[in-house]
Parts: sequence; structure tokens; C-alpha cells
Amino acid sequence: MHIPLLLLPVLGALTQASPIISRASSWPNAPFTTSGRDIKNSLNETVTYAGVNWPGAADTMIPEGLQYQSVSTIMTKIKDLGMNVIRLTYAIEMIDDIYENADTSLKTAFIQALGETNGTKVLNQVLISNPSFTENTTRLEVFDAIAAEAYTQQIYVHLDNHVSKGIWCCGHDDGNAWFGDTYFNVTSWKRGLAFMASHASSWPAFTSISLRNELRTTTNGTGDNWVSWYENMIPAADGIYAATTGQQNPVTEVRNPFSSMSLTNVNEIILVLSGKGGVGKSSVTTQLALTLSLRGHSVGILDIDLTGPSMPRFLGIESSKVRQAPGGWLPVPVHESQDATSSTAEGNKPIGPLHCMSLGFLLGNRNDAVVWRGPKKTAMVRQFLSDVHWGKLDYLLIDTPPGTSDEHISLVETLLKTAAPGQVSGAVVVTTPQAISVSDVRKEINFCKKTGINILGVVENMAGFVCPNCAECTNVFSKGGGEVMAKDFSVPFLGSVPIDPAFIALIEEGKRPVYPEGTVVAGQEMPEQAKEPEDNAGTLVEKYQSCSLFTIFDGIVGQLISNTQP
Ligand SMILES: Nc1ncnc2c1ncn2[C@@H]1O[C@H](COP(=O)(O)OP(=O)(O)O)[C@@H](O)[C@H]1O
Ligand SMILES: [Mg+2]
Repeated sequence: MHIPLLLLPVLGALTQASPIISRASSWPNAPFTTSGRDIKNSLNETVTYAGVNWPGAADTMIPEGLQYQSVSTIMTKIKDLGMNVIRLTYAIEMIDDIYENADTSLKTAFIQALGETNGTKVLNQVLISNPSFTENTTRLEVFDAIAAEAYTQQIYVHLDNHVSKGIWCCGHDDGNAWFGDTYFNVTSWKRGLAFMASHASSWPAFTSISLRNELRTTTNGTGDNWVSWYENMIPAADGIYAATTGQQNPVTEVRNPFSSMSLTNVNEIILVLSGKGGVGKSSVTTQLALTLSLRGHSVGILDIDLTGPSMPRFLGIESSKVRQAPGGWLPVPVHESQDATSSTAEGNKPIGPLHCMSLGFLLGNRNDAVVWRGPKKTAMVRQFLSDVHWGKLDYLLIDTPPGTSDEHISLVETLLKTAAPGQVSGAVVVTTPQAISVSDVRKEINFCKKTGINILGVVENMAGFVCPNCAECTNVFSKGGGEVMAKDFSVPFLGSVPIDPAFIALIEEGKRPVYPEGTVVAGQEMPEQAKEPEDNAGTLVEKYQSCSLFTIFDGIVGQLISNTQP
């Protein structure tokens, strides 16, 4: 059993504006309100809850332990322990029963849950320990009796909805985990909360209520979604408010955390596209990001390549975990910003911060292939677009799944709908010399036209080879096809990128790139290394500056920036 997470938010939502019920100024001096971290009673004294859990949400849906001792004996023991509150848990199923055909008697409840033999045995023990009950006493009347005794002994009652279906809580596969789970009918839950709040308003010891114990992901992966949390919790709290005061809650309108969504402060969104996988889309995304950051821009990478989210590996942050924040996820930092004085950039230029969000962080295993169906992918992408707290970004690069299928189109459409008009600057199309068959590129360009995406330019990757041994860059494959093709289609050509094994060693092993003396890449001689060749200390962005591909990407990014200017 765990403490309900929702106690304080709910108290806040419930009681800030008006009392649950007005009572004279005597114990418990309700209503309680919240003030910062404190709970205050009606005399403005701070109340500290020291409580015990009294479970009543398991299979019988009757508060437990009554076969051993009376309600008053149990309450006295609680008091003797120095406790001042009970968290009384209940299942929504009990209220569903009440709505369907009146509440179940103790006899029926015990026999239904425990079977004829055990049920009858436990029932008889309950009746012996608690002579005021009969076999026809209802479950809700047991809750009433406990609340009455709590008032007598001055113990606060905090009501807690533990589960929908009455069972011992909590697992990911118990059907009670998240809104809409097998037994977690949201309408019935809201009705149950309002019913219990209204019913308990007549208990003088009733001081607070929580909305739901331990929300958790379901086994099929629903949950952990702040938007759905918010969209369900607020009306539920409002329902309790209305049920107990007869008024609309005036508080909630004011603070919708989702009014400024995560993309609001992102200046430019650039998609990285390719018709096929394996052409270097993720390596291009990585290098565009590092280069933009080395020019002082703040950059985010969103990896929605659900077929193979490889960004965590490229950025060397595979073991990082995404943190939750109210309203969403915090992206994982790759490096923070450096000002000119502390900068490790050539010429001491400031370095912009780089953050990344990837589905890879949410998958357990690097090799977990995601075989979700289309709608689920679209939902996931939508959540990625709306729930990541990027903060202020100059550029958000999106590594998209390869292809031009219908599913792909719907992902891009979701993106266009989520972003503000003009926020998506366009797409960088990655191709290789071999892939430059006219039909492949035509597909890609048609795709952009269909979805209304501006083509910022084409990058031809894997054109040529930077030999680690002989200071030469050879064109193993053809080169220049990309440029011709870009001309044919009247789209900008951003540059050719050779294969550089030193880049792979940098990504895979964290090795600072070194080249034989006199190596010339893209017409430029690689400069002498300032560091010892064996010095592999430093961050990815520092070491990337020694990579032959950095010079090329610096040129690509220069063009890209001028192409994104309106
Ligand atoms: N220019 C390059 N030089 C060296 N290795 C490269 C280059 N481009 C891509 N690679 C490597 O090729 C593999 C496939 O590239 P990747 O970016 O993952 O492709 P995609 O994202 O299109 O599937 C990766 O291991 C990557 O490191
Ligand atoms: Mg990739």
C-alpha cells in the first residue's frame, strides 16, 4: 500500500474556494484548505496527518479486520499509536452496485468474495466482534459506522478510491491501472467519486478525499501520460466539488498547464527524411544538431523513428532516463550551453545546448522492435509532439521513420497539425549515390508536396570514402548524382558527405577523430591536431570538431540556415 499521490492537489481543487460542508467551529474544524505545502483547518492552524491505511477496497469491499475486533477497539488502537487520521479505501464497484440494485448485505458480500464456507465463517466472526451489525447490514453502512466512531474518537477520515474493481491493489495487469483500463470505466469512476464525496459529507470526521490511488501504466502500455491524467482528473475533482457544494468549481479554469504546449517556444522545426532506412538519416540529424550547436544555437532532437530509434546511441546517452515533469517529459541533455569564455568550440565561440527525446528511452532494450499498429504510432507521435518540455529552442530536428507510406503521411500530418503555421521550416532529404534512382527521389518529393512540406535541400550521404590510412578520399561509389538530381527537381543541393570511419569510431567508441598527415576532405586539408591523438576525453560536441565531416556539415548548415530564412 502506498500513500495516495493525489491528496494535496485534490484538497486544493476541492477546498480552495468554498467548504465541503459548513460546520461549527469545533473538532475537526473543517473545512480544510491547502496553503503552500500545508493543510490548514478552519482556524488557520496547520494540520499534520499521521495516519493508517484501513483497506476496504479488496474483494469483499468491506473495511478489513472486523472479524477480529470491533470498530471501536480498532479505532482506539489507532489513537493509542498516536495517529490522527485513517485513509479509508473503497472500490468504485461498490458504488456501481449501489446504482444498479442497492448495496449488497454483509452476508452476500462475504459469500460472493470468499465462497459459502469461508464467507459464512468470516461473516459470523464479524457479527460476534461487532454486535451492532447484522448479516443484512450493507457495506456502505460499515463505512458509516467507522466514520461515526472516528468522530467519537476524533480521528479524521480521508476517503480514498483505491481501485475500480474490488481487488487487492496494485499491478500493471489488474485492469485497474489507468483511465479506460479493463475495469477502469472513467464515467463510472467519476460517478463513484461524486457519490462518495456527497455521501461522506454527512460524516463530521470527513476532512479530505483523494481521486485515485497509484495510477500506473497498463500492461499494454497505456498510461504515464500527463495530458490524459489532466483531462480526467480535473473534471473528476470538479464533479466532487459540485457534489459537495452544489456549485461549479471556480478554480480550475484558471490554470490549464497545456495552454502553452511544448512546441510554443521552438523557433524552427526541421524534418530529416529519407525514402529508405540505412542511408544515414540519423547520422545526418546528429551532425546537423552538433553543428548548429557549435554555431551557438539551442537545439533539440526529437527521434520519432519508431522502427529503430537510434538517437540515444548516436548521442552516447543510451543509459539516460527521461524524467517526468508536470505536464510531460523532460528531454535528456546531451550537453549544456557554454559561453564564450568556457567554450570548447574553435575560436571560443559559444556552444548552444543540445537535448534529445527519443522513443528509445522508453523501450527497455536497444533491439526491441516496435511493431505497433498505425493508430498507436500516431498517438505516440502526437504525445511526443505535445508532451516534451523543450523550453526555448532555436531548432528542433525531427528524425522521422523512413518511407513515404500512408502511415508516414499521417505522422507528418499530425506534426503539421500540432505545430504552429510556419513553424515547420521544411525537410532535409537524405539520399545516397546508389539510392539516386529517379523514382525514389520523385516519391520523396511527391511526399513533401502532398503534405505541404518545403524541401530545404538534399544531402548526398556516403559519397566517397575518407581512407584512414592513406590520406585520400576516394569515390568508391559514384559521387555527384545527388547534385544533378537536385538540379533536375529544382530543389537546393546542400552537399556530399563521404563515409568517414573516424566518425563511426567517434560515435561507437568515443574516439577523437585523427587522420594521416595531409588528408584532404572536400578539398580541404585536415588541420594538425591540437590534442594528443590518444586524448579521448571530452564531450561529443568537443570531439566532433576534429572530425573531417564537421567542415562539410558547417557548409551544409550555413546553406540550411540561409534557406530557412523567409
Ligand atoms: N558519412 C558517414 N560516415 C560513416 N558512417 C556513416 C555515415 N553515414 C552513416 N554512417 C553509418 O551508417 C549506419 C547507418 O546510418 P544511420 O544514420 O543509422 O541511417 P538511417 O538513420 O538512415 O537508418 C550507421 O551505423 C552510421 O554510423
Ligand atoms: Mg535512423
